[in-house]
Amino acid sequence: MTTGDISKKRAAEAAIAEVTDGMLVGLGTGSTAAFAISGLGRRIADERLTITAAGTSLATETAARAAGIPFLAFDDLATVDLCIDGADEIDPRFRAIKGGGGAMLREKIVASAATRMICIVDASKPVETLARPLPIEVLPFARAYVMGAIRALDGEPVVRPAPSDQGNLLMDCDFGPIADPAGLARALDAVPGLLGHGLFLSEIDALYIGDETGVERRER
Ligand code: A5P
Repeated sequence: MTTGDISKKRAAEAAIAEVTDGMLVGLGTGSTAAFAISGLGRRIADERLTITAAGTSLATETAARAAGIPFLAFDDLATVDLCIDGADEIDPRFRAIKGGGGAMLREKIVASAATRMICIVDASKPVETLARPLPIEVLPFARAYVMGAIRALDGEPVVRPAPSDQGNLLMDCDFGPIADPAGLARALDAVPGLLGHGLFLSEIDALYIGDETGVERRER
């Protein structure tokens, strides 16, 4: 396991300690969330917990089922107790960019439905200012229109070769350092055909940062 993987696993293991018997857990997507999924499967088996889960991607559903976690379709659910998910960048105000794995549309729905949302990251993810290219999901019908709208906001969109789980387009939009994440989120929310973006500004309640030596926990 690489140092990065050890750090991700530390954060994930600390977060799943918050899961208690009877909870419905929203499971995130990505390499850090994968450690939470395998750890939760282990806890369910070892402690005979009655836990159910819903996921944020097809990959997560496959991993959760393989880990022996009883899995529910999210479309039947209005809420989950606890959501555990990774991030690509997170700033000191718990504002994050997510969607490196292309799952941010479902991730935001599950995070918003959660009573509590825990973000799990390794030490490479905290930043002072969000700056990495922002993933967006776009209705294929609106491809050129949305790319024009992104350029009008001073972003440069790059279309990913693979579609989202929903069969839509994924684009990474380089805005440079994002001085006003709330303003950008509002502008993006107003573009027809732009189905979702990876700015998570209010969803995250707690942050676990793993590194080579341990885990730091921060509450919003
Ligand atoms: C998935 O779409 C993403 O939002 C992930 O949560 C994010 O990219 C973090 O992934 P890693 O844990 O693999 O870094």
